[in-house]
Amino acid sequence: MRRVQAPPRVTLLLGMANTSISSYDEIAGMYHELWADWYLPAAMPALERLLFSRLPHGACVLDLCCGSGHVTKELVARGYQVTAVDNSAELIAIAQRNLPGVDFRVQDARDLQLEKRYDAVLSTFDSLNHILELDGLRRVFAGVQRSLKPGGLFLFDMNLEEAYSADLRQWAVDISDTSVGLVRGVFDPISKMARTELIWFVRTGQDNLWRQHRSVVKQQCYSQSEILLALTEAGFRGVEAVQSRDAGVVSELGFGRVFFLAGASVQRE
Ligand SMILES: C[S@@+](CC[C@H](N)C(=O)[O-])C[C@H]1O[C@@H](n2cnc3c(N)ncnc32)[C@H](O)[C@@H]1O
Repeated sequence: MRRVQAPPRVTLLLGMANTSISSYDEIAGMYHELWADWYLPAAMPALERLLFSRLPHGACVLDLCCGSGHVTKELVARGYQVTAVDNSAELIAIAQRNLPGVDFRVQDARDLQLEKRYDAVLSTFDSLNHILELDGLRRVFAGVQRSLKPGGLFLFDMNLEEAYSADLRQWAVDISDTSVGLVRGVFDPISKMARTELIWFVRTGQDNLWRQHRSVVKQQCYSQSEILLALTEAGFRGVEAVQSRDAGVVSELGFGRVFFLAGASVQRE
């Protein structure tokens, strides 16, 4: 995964396993409580500049790897027609509770099955670093290409190697009256895989009992050239890599993070 100044009280790495059951499921509440609201304010200038400013009101937008729906909420507030997809059933359940009218689907981004075509696909908060093999990333890009209208836009951000360079082996702890969260991470520069251990204790309300949730989530670090080549091979055009700072992200969120913007091909079957 990547180096992150956690919101607002924890420093963490995030990632997830390439399995049919999401490694976010067990710690979905922890993700939603501790980090879900952190990304958007910092990333907003980039999303505004690279995507929102180019979309008409009412555009059809796919929120790919939507998590517990905090970016989805913003898309809805902007008047877009939104579909949101994630492979964590638990995160989708939280999102659905908070945004009952939205079309949420539990799907793997590598195997998108969508009947409609979109003006834009957005995938935020280094979600695509959670795709652990380059071939999987290629499948995601092919599925996004199929899901876009001709000329539609695809925007996502990913962490490059610099983002994984922080030493986060010590446990970072977040304590509140009802929960205790612990996070630590490690990055292997040979395999380029980041591994994050998460432990979350939640007070149950009965006899001061605490329930423990544990998970290990993984992220894969790709090079900028691998990502650009995979986009081009998937048929995207006008492919650009925009450094966070150039996209207007000034906080630590931008450290080692790059925004990728690509247009769907115009000629479609
Ligand atoms: C760091 S979270 C970001 C969530 C959301 N985009 C946000 O900005 O809050 C990464 C998300 O990617 C999702 N994810 C990881 N691998 C996935 C896959 N293969 N298919 C669909 N979603 C996936 C996780 O479940 C998680 O919700």
